[in-house]
Formats: sequence, structure tokens, C-alpha cells
Amino acid sequence: MASSCNVVSMALLACLVLNSLVFVAHGGDFYQDFDLTWGDKRGKIFNGGKLLSLSLDRVSGSGFKSKKEYLFGRIDMQLKLVAGNSAGTVTAYYLSSQGPTHDEIDFEFLGNLSGDPYILHTNVFTQGKGNREQQFYLWFDPTRNFHTYSIIWKPQHIIFLVDNIPIRVFKNAESIGVPFPKSQPMRIYSSLWNADDWATRGGLVKTDWAKAPFTAYYRNFIANACVWSGRSSSCAKTNSVSAGAWETNELDAPGRRRLRWVQKYFMIYNYCTDLKRFPQGVPPECKRPRF
Ligand SMILES: *[C@@H]1O[C@H](CO)[C@@H](O)[C@H](O)[C@H]1NC(C)=O
Repeated sequence: MASSCNVVSMALLACLVLNSLVFVAHGGDFYQDFDLTWGDKRGKIFNGGKLLSLSLDRVSGSGFKSKKEYLFGRIDMQLKLVAGNSAGTVTAYYLSSQGPTHDEIDFEFLGNLSGDPYILHTNVFTQGKGNREQQFYLWFDPTRNFHTYSIIWKPQHIIFLVDNIPIRVFKNAESIGVPFPKSQPMRIYSSLWNADDWATRGGLVKTDWAKAPFTAYYRNFIANACVWSGRSSSCAKTNSVSAGAWETNELDAPGRRRLRWVQKYFMIYNYCTDLKRFPQGVPPECKRPRF
């Protein structure tokens, strides 16, 4: 099937390296793609596999993970976050490999009092080390409707997108000694838990358990991704429903413009500019152009 390698440049590098392919992309059935992993009955799949919910109460939160492992690709999921007073709650949605030197690509949604803004917290771990946080406010209320949160993970960069708008790019900077996630397959995970010791206004606002259970919803999962078989990775191209130009390439001009817009008006924390935290100088990847 080497010919399918040519179909997508995204998959090409993985194909060359791993030399085995089959194509994979699908969406829509949580029964087929995910396992509820903890929280007893607090995680639920319904509507014939089209909808999943996680909840949190005083006793426990809940979580799920993908049955498959992926190595590169584009993963889209629609989330509708805990509504009302969600202060103290955190909904994490991320890709992660396993073990002490794991890689991880994180979205975390930090709840807030009714009417106050959620924070979207992002991070990238390589070889077990993170400390690469960027945080954003959103330009909409993420509890009113479903919105699409995507990760494009390619050998040359990782792009975080919200409703197809790139909010963060983490470039492969191995040439200057920064490890990049490229050899450990990852699963998709999500969990909803109580983090009122730090989540909302740095821990000042606590979870109001009178409002429990807190519930977040998931739908329309799509993985245009290479699936790891335990030894090799199979990938190909599918019906890319939501492909932008940056899906196959570097960000194009409109993509760069949107990224700048988000970073200028909605980014509230960037480790790359936190000189107090890095008095000896910010990490090397911060010194390069962002895209
Ligand atoms: C919650 O709202 C406060 C007040 O607007 C804001 O400072 C904070 O960043 C918001 N988000 C979180 C998660 O604390």
C-alpha cells in the first residue's frame, strides 16, 4: 500500500520511517473508539454511540480513553463544557503516551463562576517534561454549544485549533536540541475532575458541591490519523471534512493571521515570555519564530 503514502504529505514521513500503511479515519461511534476508564457510572455513552458525557460529583470524577493508539494525524472532537458554576472543575482533553518519558499534547479547560470566563490551558510534554504552558480565554461561551477542539500532530509541528482557528503552534526544534514527540504512539484521553486547589483564580474559588453533578459532553470525534499496531503505524488520507490549508502544510497566510489574532487578544499566559520563571533565559524553542 505504499502508494497511499503519497496521498498525504502529513503521513509521508511516518510512512517512510515505519514503512507500513493502511488507511484509517472515522468518527462517530464512542462505543467503537473509546473505553470509559474510571468514575463508575459517571461516564456515559448514549444516542447509539454518538454522544458521551463525563460527570463529577463530590465522590469522584470520570474519564475515558481511546481504544487505539495514534502516531501523527489530526484529531477533532466537539466538546460542550460544564455549564453554570463550574469553578474548581477541570476538563482535560489530551493525547498522551505512557511511561516516565512520555509525550503529551494537552487541552485543559479550567471552569469558573457563572458568567466568568473559562481558561483554556495548553501544554506540550516531550520525554516526560512539560513546562510549556500557554493559556487562553475563548471568544465564545464554551458551555452554550459544542465547539471543535483539534490537534494536528505532524513530524514537523503540532498545531492546536479551536473551531479550526489555530491558537498555538509547537514547531519541531530538534535541530536546536529540543525533543519533539515523534516516536511514541499516543492515546486520546479525557477526564473531568475537581482541582479547586488551583484551577479557578489560582485556587481562590472553590467547587460549589451544591451544584454537582457537573457534566461535560462530547460528540463528533474524527481521527484522520495513523493508527499504531504495536509495531508499525498505518495511515492514509480520508474525507478530510475540516481540512484547512495548514492541514497538509505549514500555516498559510490566513492561518498565520488567525493565530496572531488569537495570540494578541486571547492569550493570557505564555511560558515563552515568563522571564520571572526563567531568569536564566526562556527555553530555546521560544527564541525561534512561532511559525
Ligand atoms: C475566572 O474569572 C476571573 C474573573 O473574571 C478571571 O480572572 C479568571 O481568569 C477566570 N478563569 C479562571 C479559570 O480562573
